[in-house]
Amino acid sequence: MSSGLRVAVVGAAGYAGGELLRLLLGHPAVGEIVATSRSQAGKPISEAHPSLAPLTDARFSGMSPGEAAIGRDVVFLALEQGESSRLAAAIFESGPGLVIDLAADFRIADMRLYEQFYGQHASPDHVHRFTYGLADVLGDKLRGATAIAAPGCFATAAQLALWPLASAGIETTPVLFGITGSSGAGVSPRPSTHHPARANNVFAYSVLGHRHEAEVLSSWREWTGNADAQARLMVHSGPWVRGIYLTLHARFSERPSTMADGATAFYCDAYADRRFVRVLDRAPELTHAVGSNYALIHAALSDDGRELQVMVAEDNLVKGAGGQAIQAMNLALGFDEAAGLTAVGIFPC
Ligand SMILES: NC(=O)c1ccc[n+]([C@@H]2O[C@H](COP(=O)([O-])OP(=O)(O)OC[C@H]3O[C@@H](n4cnc5c(N)ncnc54)[C@H](OP(=O)(O)O)[C@@H]3O)[C@@H](O)[C@H]2O)c1
Repeated sequence: MSSGLRVAVVGAAGYAGGELLRLLLGHPAVGEIVATSRSQAGKPISEAHPSLAPLTDARFSGMSPGEAAIGRDVVFLALEQGESSRLAAAIFESGPGLVIDLAADFRIADMRLYEQFYGQHASPDHVHRFTYGLADVLGDKLRGATAIAAPGCFATAAQLALWPLASAGIETTPVLFGITGSSGAGVSPRPSTHHPARANNVFAYSVLGHRHEAEVLSSWREWTGNADAQARLMVHSGPWVRGIYLTLHARFSERPSTMADGATAFYCDAYADRRFVRVLDRAPELTHAVGSNYALIHAALSDDGRELQVMVAEDNLVKGAGGQAIQAMNLALGFDEAAGLTAVGIFPC
């Protein structure tokens, strides 16, 4: 019997599942991994994820999610939106130590807000079990969590830009403009993710209502203590595979006293003890974040101190999905927060 954590990745043939496997296979505390897939059951993991061939010759299991969760220290759910709430009862009945869901099913405690963006919830009774796992903000507060809802990819970038501003006295609704690569749409091809439609092209989607706005609003209202606080997320498809670039724009009625030394110093202070947020003195570039669990941030304040722009670059599959989920696992279980996550990016890519 192998020592170390016994982990299951459910939905392991997808892009987020593959990223979890890549990182978990190099995690020093992980002993045994079962990777489930309905469509790939019995096939080598390296068929769906060829880059993992040097790390594993294991095959996908066809176990049901409930079976896969039995006897597991940690279960990651990397399923299409709505599936994890449908499966939640079976998973919890299996008694795993920690469940980490990468979908949006359990990210929003306010059911009215959830249903406004996602429709009816399949298992509202399980929502209270979950802690929203924005790892770079919560840090050690995740210790002991037994169920974690990993934030969405756009929502992670948006909230890392927003969080330090909760008490900065923003005058108008903060606006968050993000562009993502095609891997954000998952492994199943669709007309809007087809290469000829996507290469050399940029287009907005989910106009006036991208679903990640719900969790951004949920956090922003909690942080500001204002149940009516607004934040606007505008999302776009970009002609690359990995990575999200997001810019926040906000206005103040006067220069915030907390930014007397400038916006960079303010963001450096906010993230002083956070290992995976790097505050830069110039605008980040997407390819400097790709492949890593780091979020790269730059903040700039206008000369009159009334206008702020904040840029965030992250890898949607690492910081925005598998990497942050493993960071949350590390924090929940009391491991070194960076265990298995220290790889830097792969510039140029
Ligand atoms: N892609 C990103 O950048 C990203 C970032 C953050 C969060 N997420 C979230 O992570 C989740 C997965 O995203 P993804 O991009 O990896 O999607 P994906 O590539 O479409 O993969 C989802 C996988 O889930 C499996 N699945 C679905 N229903 C299942 C069931 N009932 N039982 C077992 N397996 C099932 C499918 O595999 P089989 O059909 O083989 O079982 C599929 O490969 C989504 O909720 C997404 O919103 C994605």
